[in-house]
Amino acid sequence: MSWKDFPKVELHMHLEGAAPPAFVRGLAQEKNIDLTGVFDERGNYTFRDFVHFLQVYEAATQVLKTPEDYGRLTLAVLEQCAENGVIYAESFLSPDFCGGRDVTAWKEYLHAMQEAADQAEAQMGITLRGIVTCIRHFGPEKARETALCAAETAGDWITGFGMGGDEGMGRQGDFAWAFDCAREAGLRLTTHAGEFGGPESVRQAIEDLKVERIGHGVRAIEDPALVDILAEREIVLEVCPGSNVVLGLYPRFAAHPIAKLREAGVKVTVSTDDPPFFNTTMTREYEELERAFGWGAEDFAELNRIAIEAAFCDEGTRKRIKQRLEQA
Ligand code: ADE
Ligand code: ZN
Repeated sequence: MSWKDFPKVELHMHLEGAAPPAFVRGLAQEKNIDLTGVFDERGNYTFRDFVHFLQVYEAATQVLKTPEDYGRLTLAVLEQCAENGVIYAESFLSPDFCGGRDVTAWKEYLHAMQEAADQAEAQMGITLRGIVTCIRHFGPEKARETALCAAETAGDWITGFGMGGDEGMGRQGDFAWAFDCAREAGLRLTTHAGEFGGPESVRQAIEDLKVERIGHGVRAIEDPALVDILAEREIVLEVCPGSNVVLGLYPRFAAHPIAKLREAGVKVTVSTDDPPFFNTTMTREYEELERAFGWGAEDFAELNRIAIEAAFCDEGTRKRIKQRLEQA
């Protein structure tokens, strides 16, 4: 069976990282921007390793210059998600790229993205919520400004705050001010941890930032006591297996710890991270998980139930999405 039409909830995706290559090339052409080094000869994104991936990601993002560009991007990304059966998604949004962390400019970008999301919801039946995200390698000072953008726009649509970027830079706790600011504004919290940082980074995320979800978190598997803590405290992992395989954390899906974490009682969910960069879609993630672990409809339905319970949306939206999952 194909998993394409199976209804899915996706909690971990970066809007710029989900930009279809043809969309980015089109904008580059319109604006006469040189993207040498971003694509390979077949037109796919190309990178050597994680740090190079972050550089290529930022280079491709240069084509996105205006709120209108972000509106078009949002629509293009949601079309891809909806085609793969996603009915509810959360996307990381970066004020760093949307107006350079200026609150007034950020509000204009946000308005354009939200309008596009409303259009996608009406036309394709997909619901989106935004998680404002600071970028770790830009440093704690810029993260504070990002948190202020988040706090200013916290509400029904911007419902979370998070951190991506190079986990090798500094410690999670260096960003505590930004996370405290976001929490005080009523935002729910997640951070990338245990991807390129080891289990210690996951411990820091829980203790120093007090997040309720973790982006990736998979390297917790290297510390059995930490796995128990994740299970006991019901901290939800936003696992992106295809991303981890392409970035070289694990040689293949079958070697990925998602199944072991799940067996240990950790609440795991499945997402794509930056789908075209990692040659993936939600459909492909499900296909690979079926192949690697024999997972079927019951397993995926359970992952989606965990995901919608952990979603950073209001209760009315959660109820509506749960009904759609149950009906399927
Ligand atoms: N930004 C976009 N994708 C990311 C990833 N996989 N890890 C950290 N930061 C990111
Ligand atoms: Zn990510």
